[in-house]
This record gives sequence, structure tokens and C-alpha cells, in this order.
Amino acid sequence: MVVIMSVATLAVLFVALAAVLLAAEKVLINYGTCVVDINAGGKKLEVEGGGSLLSTLYDNEVFIPSACGGRGSCAYCKVVVPEGAGPVLPTETPYLSRQEIRAGTRLACQVKIRNDVQVEIPEDLLNVRMFNATVQSTREVTHDIKEIQFALIEPDEIEHRPGQYVQIQAPSTEGPVFRAYSISSPVYEKRIVELNVRLVPGGIGSTYLHNLEEGDSVVFTGPFGEFRLNEDPEVEIVCVGGGCGMAPMKNIIYSLYHQWPDRSCWLFFGCRTTRDVFYREAYQKLAEEHPNFHVVYALSDPVEEDDSWDGETGFIHLSVDKMLEPNRSRQAFLCGPPPMIEAVTRVLEEKGLDEQDIFYDKF
Ligand code: FES
Repeated sequence: MVVIMSVATLAVLFVALAAVLLAAEKVLINYGTCVVDINAGGKKLEVEGGGSLLSTLYDNEVFIPSACGGRGSCAYCKVVVPEGAGPVLPTETPYLSRQEIRAGTRLACQVKIRNDVQVEIPEDLLNVRMFNATVQSTREVTHDIKEIQFALIEPDEIEHRPGQYVQIQAPSTEGPVFRAYSISSPVYEKRIVELNVRLVPGGIGSTYLHNLEEGDSVVFTGPFGEFRLNEDPEVEIVCVGGGCGMAPMKNIIYSLYHQWPDRSCWLFFGCRTTRDVFYREAYQKLAEEHPNFHVVYALSDPVEEDDSWDGETGFIHLSVDKMLEPNRSRQAFLCGPPPMIEAVTRVLEEKGLDEQDIFYDKF
């Protein structure tokens, strides 16, 4: 008992000491003007030292992804910092592999600017913008998912790739926070951004978005994301979603058929019951217009009210296994809970897909 109390007291003292040191550093140390050199001279920023690399870049309209508000818990903000970042901190090591550490990868939210730094930022991220928009429409598509459309104001158009996402700025008691949501509207709809948002009890982003009304103002940054559609029309596209993992699929499918009306594509979507089914009729209509588009919805936990269900039942990876022929040239996009992604990935690999042709978004 005495040992436990001593350890607890020491821990409290340690945290208090760290807080005092941080506060003292803020007040007492002036780092002066520092240079943030982006991509070896591609862009140079003269900034006040003392802030985090993430917030300093943000203040200069260079938007690095962040889903935890800079608390060091999402690992979205990884960038390569070849020089000037100091040693890797204990708050970063859980999120960085040895290879990444050797390559100079850091969490931008944990790196403090104390001197000049060099940073490598992918070109894609340099094109990310902050958008002001208003809510054009909201509608419930299931008992807990809303489709929300934003009309863009400034800038009034967005260029994005199928499957990319934006980061919505939501208010919180600790100031504005950013939360990531995939864009469900297709790439040719440049003046709107549509999202499918599931209400997560207590979730800052989803509660904020579900309470928005037509005409409300919103701010978001984007587009972000690594999904890249194979441009070869011979490559079949396989989309597998579950829960609220519909948004990137919708974007990919409608963008795909806008560009390649004859392209082969499958949509597999897993729901628990018919309460969770949405967009099915719209996809069935699309499949009538495009005979190479195949739509499969499966219920994993059908209840009595689902007696008239005419789709598949069981986990969605079983439908993928049942319906896809092996050894065809394919690219797959998966979006849903980790167990679903893992099960589907196993099936797709058995069907002959290479790891690099499987893109996924776990949540
Ligand atoms: S912003 Fe989340 S870990 Fe850096």
C-alpha cells in the first residue's frame, strides 16, 4: 500500500513538474524568428518559434491531417523532418516504426519549433485548402446516419480524387477540433461536398454535424487521403463497406461511371439489419444503367422484421468470397470496422489481389 501511494505521489509530482516547466518555457524562453523550409527550398516560412510544427504550419495555411487536435494520439500528422526537430520524444515512439524513425518521420504536433527546421510535405498536402461553406441540405438516410450537403462559398470549388476526405472544424470546450469525414459526393460535383455522418454518442464531430441546420456556416480543410483509383479501364473495382463506410464508396462508384460507363465494379455493403440499409435503390437503378455494376447488400443480424429481405445474409466477407471469381485484375477499396477490413483483405488476397491493390480506411 505504502509503495503504491509513493509511486502515485511521485507520478503526480512528475506531471506537475512537467506542467511547470512547460509553462515556464512559454513565458521565459523566446526562440525568436525561425525558418521552416518546406521541401528543400520549395517554400520558406519565417515564423515565431515556440509553437508546434503542426500549429505553425496551420497558421501559415499548410494543412497537415490531424484527428486528435494535436494531442499526439491519432498519428495522422506524420511528416518527415530531416533537420532541426531534435530527438524523437517518448510521446511519438508508440506511433513510429524503426524504419520511420530512421527516415526522420515525426509527429508534427509533437515537434516544437526551437530553431530552423526542414520538413518534407507531400505535394498533395500543399494543395489542401481551408473552405468556408453553408449547409445546403440535411436528411436522415438511416436511424443514425445523416446525409449532409455543403454548398462551397470560399473557395467555391473543390478538386478531389474519389475516396478522399475532409476535416470538419467542430467547436469543443477546449476550442475548435478537426474530425475527418470521407466525401460522398462524386468528383464532378465541384461546388458541393456531401458527407454521410453516423451519430456517435458523445462524439464531438458527429454531434456537431447532426445538429447543423440549412444555412449554417461550416469550415473544413481538405482534400486529404491516399486512395488512388486505377485509371486502366480493364481493372475491375471492388468496393466493400460496412456501417457508415459508405461515403468513399459512393464517391468512387459515381465518379467511376461518370468517366467509364462500361467499367466492371462491385459494391459489397454489410449492414446489421434493414434499419441500416441505405442508398440500395439508387445503386440498383445505377446497375440497370450500367450492366457491369453489381450491388450486393448483406445483413449480418437480421431480425423478425427483415423477413421480406431479398438480399444476402451473413458477414460481408462471405458474400465477397462467394461472388468474386479468382485471379482477375482488380483494385479494392475497403471502408469499415477493423474486423471487417481484416476478413475482407484475407478473402481478396486468396482471390489473387496484391497487397498494394487493396486500399482501406479502418474506423
Ligand atoms: S495531430 Fe494527432 S497525433 Fe498529431
